[in-house]
Amino acid sequence: MVHEGRPYLWGMPHRPSKLPHVGTTIFTIMSKLAAEHGALNLGQGFPGFSMDQRLCDLVHEQMRANRNQYAPMPGVPELRLLLSNKMKAAYGYSYDPESEITITAGGTQAIFTIITALVHAGDEVLSFAPAYDCYAPAVELQGGTMKWVNLRYPDYHIDWQAVRAQITSRTRMIIINTPHNPTGMCMTADDMLELQAIAEAHDLLVLSDEVYEHIVFDGGRHESVVRYPDLAKRSLIVYSFGKTFHNTGWKMGYVCAPAELTAEVRKVHQYNVFSVNTPVQYALAEYMSDAKTYADISEMYEAKRDVFVRALEGSRFGLKPAAGAYFQLLDYSAISQEGDVEFAKRLTQEKKITGIPCSVFFPDLQDDKVLRFCFAKHDDELLRAAEILQSI
Ligand SMILES: Cc1ncc(COP(=O)(O)O)c(C=O)c1O
Repeated sequence: MVHEGRPYLWGMPHRPSKLPHVGTTIFTIMSKLAAEHGALNLGQGFPGFSMDQRLCDLVHEQMRANRNQYAPMPGVPELRLLLSNKMKAAYGYSYDPESEITITAGGTQAIFTIITALVHAGDEVLSFAPAYDCYAPAVELQGGTMKWVNLRYPDYHIDWQAVRAQITSRTRMIIINTPHNPTGMCMTADDMLELQAIAEAHDLLVLSDEVYEHIVFDGGRHESVVRYPDLAKRSLIVYSFGKTFHNTGWKMGYVCAPAELTAEVRKVHQYNVFSVNTPVQYALAEYMSDAKTYADISEMYEAKRDVFVRALEGSRFGLKPAAGAYFQLLDYSAISQEGDVEFAKRLTQEKKITGIPCSVFFPDLQDDKVLRFCFAKHDDELLRAAEILQSI
């Protein structure tokens, strides 16, 4: 609603929206367009195949065993203990399950809760564009300011000199995301050392969005901040069971952070959701007690990436195979010079294939003529998508 050029809320004409720039997201727009035109939708970032039915059965069992009341505020102890052991086994760092691990309603709630708890009005928060879309609104709602460092096509490597140049006495937090949505970029050990040096020099907190930790390709190692103990001391790491177990609709995740930071996060968490789904937490604890349940996820997604990338060989789209996460970027600059939003819409309308234009992940709408396609789909869908893209 716009009143005299300014957005306002019903009955509150003198109160502007707290998020005046937030409107319908491109994901909603493209999905609607895809449905209208009967297009194959590789825009939506979620698995198109089923999760393991055994995990569903375990949830049913927990429900029938009457584990249906409120869980403890930070999460059920069995799951927190399991996650503590998992972190130790994977990264060699011990998080105390009592005071350093909190189960959340997915990665998004974790991110919002962390930012609400730790960012004060007037603080600056630095992050990298293109970026997942939930960081900035959370910072702005706290009266903080986002500072962006744009990553450059095609590698999207971080320019640490540019990061240093953006830091001021007000900078409070850096938000990183590795493996990265939408580019598939994975931060390296050198990146982590740079980050550690900067965070220490300026006494910064690090919010590390690692929801794709189990989706890293070509034998690469996931460089979690937790591998760097001096970095781990000032970091809050966000994970999502939905990304790992192909059940994004369950909205289950967790945060690992040192006790003093966790205490602050829990102050907000307890008045936000208080606690999250009880039977699912018990079921996850039982399911994950067998580490094989999450051992082969990278291989499974790497095979899907390869199906898609190989089927695109010889097409007019340029690509660099994704290093992680489940998105493949395709560069259409050899086909058209039109803006990426227009190009994505035209592909949907005329060719019946939908991807997400990458400019929407940049606050300044940097347009590299690149679309994002999600390859967490059945192989036959990927082959069908590639066939259409080959014809363009
Ligand atoms: C980079 C990134 N962070 C966080 C999330 C949110 O995770 P969840 O679905 O568990 O809220 C997503 C989901 O797409 C994501 O891509």
